[in-house]
This record gives sequence, structure tokens and C-alpha cells, in this order.
Amino acid sequence: MAFDQIRNVVAKLESDIASGPIVPVVTPQEIRSYLASHYDFTKPLALDDVVADVEQMLRTWQVQVTHPRYFGLFNPSVTLASIIADTLVAMYNPQLATWRTSPAANEIERHTLGWLGGKFGFPADAVASFTSGGAEANLSAVIVALTRAFPDYGEGGLRHLSASPTIYLTGEAHHSFNKIAHITGLGRRALRPVATDRELKMDLSDLTRCVAGDRHDGLAPFMVVGTVGTTGAGVIDPLPKLARFCRAEGLWLHIDAAWGGAAIISPRLRGHMAGVDAADSITCDAHKWFSVPMAAGMFFCRHPDAVGEAFRAETSYMPGKTVGPILDPYTTSVQWSRRFIGLKLFLALAEHGEAGYVEMIEHQARMGDVLRESLTRAGWRVVNATPLPLVCFTRDGLVPAQFLAALYQRQIAWMSEVRLGDATVVRACITSFRTTESDIEWVVREMGRLT
Ligand SMILES: Cc1ncc(COP(=O)(O)O)c(C=O)c1O
Repeated sequence: MAFDQIRNVVAKLESDIASGPIVPVVTPQEIRSYLASHYDFTKPLALDDVVADVEQMLRTWQVQVTHPRYFGLFNPSVTLASIIADTLVAMYNPQLATWRTSPAANEIERHTLGWLGGKFGFPADAVASFTSGGAEANLSAVIVALTRAFPDYGEGGLRHLSASPTIYLTGEAHHSFNKIAHITGLGRRALRPVATDRELKMDLSDLTRCVAGDRHDGLAPFMVVGTVGTTGAGVIDPLPKLARFCRAEGLWLHIDAAWGGAAIISPRLRGHMAGVDAADSITCDAHKWFSVPMAAGMFFCRHPDAVGEAFRAETSYMPGKTVGPILDPYTTSVQWSRRFIGLKLFLALAEHGEAGYVEMIEHQARMGDVLRESLTRAGWRVVNATPLPLVCFTRDGLVPAQFLAALYQRQIAWMSEVRLGDATVVRACITSFRTTESDIEWVVREMGRLT
């Protein structure tokens, strides 16, 4: 099949977006009245007209996250191959719940996940699956860790446990864990906050104190969550120390590398992830630094038995298991019906090759350095320390909300604000492989005119 038309449409879209506004100016009422007056669904409309209209809405009423000056939460620019992959998936609509219904798709996913699992230093028999995102991957980790640590959890539930299970993480860890604690029935108080050092990394002595104190109080510590690339400041927790501690204490080590995980393939960056190979499980999103469209997370786990126990399901209505070394994904993951999520990473990797991906990732890391240096030269104070392309900064007397409003109003860039310690600062992350040095220098220059 020829995808030249998609190629042309995407190329035009990229250039239109790059030269257009980043931040929309619209109220909910404006969109709602437009939809109500144009779409009451009483009579059919020509598809071409509706598509054109939807595109217009997407152009004008959205933050353009693929804009080279979108420096926001990690929503990437996307590769052409990954767009084509999602088109193919929608066309064939394969069902990946069982191996038997989608042998090709399941094996393509397995092959792709095996490649990345190997980069993380996981053994060949580790289990991995594509997820809807990092939140689902983190949820999978907690469910599997609970299942392994508390054999009665699966059948009897938490109420059958003699002590309350607890998870250790810093205030910088992703807040999906708060929801996960709620959803799983652990309760949000099961999350035990561990102090951070001056660089916002997990403080090992506080972790040691918390775990010992909780054991003494009759709680049941079972899991530590370390982050590679915290959402707020891009901090990497001290993985080798966490790994040693978890091994000594018999605790499950989960590494949430939702956006930072892609650094593992970069010779320049992977040293910062040393120790990740000792994790029991890892979250890494393809829809972040691997630059494919949402929704594509990944969950890796080195304990196939625990995964099988946590997600086991038997029904007469599902096609029977195929004999051989295969897994039916509905029995090894949270989802049942499964979209062919992995094709977009497979196709993009196949097209660019590992070297192409390393180049994209290292380019973005370099742009992070350029931004850091450019801001410092312009008199801003950078307040976070990370090798990843995320810069948090401020200057005396800055009111981030007002600064951002002016930034948006002049369509200079999209950045966000974040609270680090007791200060609210501006946060800028290089999420697009298309961001250039001149984009950054222009933005910093224009920012200088706002303050
Ligand atoms: C460190 C971290 N973990 C987990 C998540 C949640 O991932 P998702 O939004 O893909 O569910 C994020 C999202 O930004 C993240 O930064």
C-alpha cells in the first residue's frame, strides 16, 4: 500500500503547525454552542465536510503539542511511521486479547518489547506488555507486586491480610500512584512519603527509617517506587542504592521511567540509569520520548509467575490457548480487548533504526542543555539538576502564572508551572525532536521582553 498521501498531509501539517499559534484562545461555551448548532446528528453529513471541520477545530481550539515551541508536559511530536502504524491498526482492527486471533500482531509486540527489555537488562523470560500509558503500567506493577508479596491478596483481598501493605515513594513520584492506592483498595495512606535530598532525589536514610518504623508499627512494607525522570523536575532517583536496599529488605523495586526510560538506548545518557536492570518492574511510555502517538505505555516485569497469577482468567467463551511458548495477553495484563498498540513503536524503530532513535533522543537532550545555558545567560535561575531535557527556572519576584499568561498571549511558547519544595517555578521540557537551537534562542530572547 502507498502511504504517499499521508506523507504529504503530515508534512504539510507539520509546517502549518510550526508557523501557526501554539495556544488556543477559546471558551468552553464557544465550543459547546458551535457543536450544538452544527452537530445534532439528526441528518447525515458529508464525511469530507465533517473531517475538514474537525481539523479546523483541532487547529484552532487545541494546544499544539507537536509545535517545536511546545515545551510542556511530555506530549511528543510524532514520527510519520507511527502515524502510518496507527492508520494500519485502525484499518485492520486486530484483536490482541489472545495469541490465536492475532499471531502476527502479538509476535510484533513481543519482538519490540523484547528489544527494549533487553536494553533495560531484563532476562529473556521477563514478561512485558503494551499499556494505555504509564498510569496503567504503574497499576500493573502494584497489582503484581501485591500478588507476589501477599499470596492471599488475589483470592481473599486486602481484608484477609494480617498487616496493611505499604509503598514507599517521594513526593516527586507520579500522582498516578495516589489513584492506584485508591483503586486497588490499599488506600491512599498506604503511600509512605520518603524525604528527598537537595536535588529532589529519594533520601536513602529516610527510606531506611520509614521502612523500619513501619515494620515496627506492624505495617507490611512491600514496594519502593523509584523514578527515572520525575514529572516535575526530571530527577532520577539513586537506582543502585534503591536496588541494594530493596534486595536486602525483600521489597519489590518498581522503576517508573515513563518519560525518562527512552534514555536507556542513548550511549550518552544510559549511565544515568545504571541500576535499572535490578528492578522487579519498569514503566516506560512509548508515547513520550519514543515519539509515537498516544496511547502507548509499556510494562516490563521480571517475574512471569507473579504476572500470570495476578492477571489469570479462564472462560469458555475465549478462544482456547494455543499450544507452544506463547501467552494470551488477556491473561497477563490489565486489559482484555487489546488494540495493536505496539505497531507504532515497531514501525518507527524499523524505519529509523536504533541509531536514528539515539540521534533523536540525544538531540533533545542537547536542546535541553541549550535551553539551560541560554536561560542562565539571560539571567534566569535554573533550580533543578538533571541530564534530561527538562529545565525548571525562575527569577526574583517572578509570578509564574502571570508570566505564563503573557507567554501564551504572545504565542511565544507553551511551558507550565510546577511546585518544587516551597517554590512555584516555570517548567520547560523539550518534547519535540523538531525543536532547534534557534527555536530556543528565539523563545529566551522573547521571554526577556516579558519581564
Ligand atoms: C513519571 C511519570 N509516570 C507516570 C506518568 C503517567 O503516564 P501516562 O500519562 O502515560 O498514563 C507520567 C506522565 O506524565 C509520568 O511523567
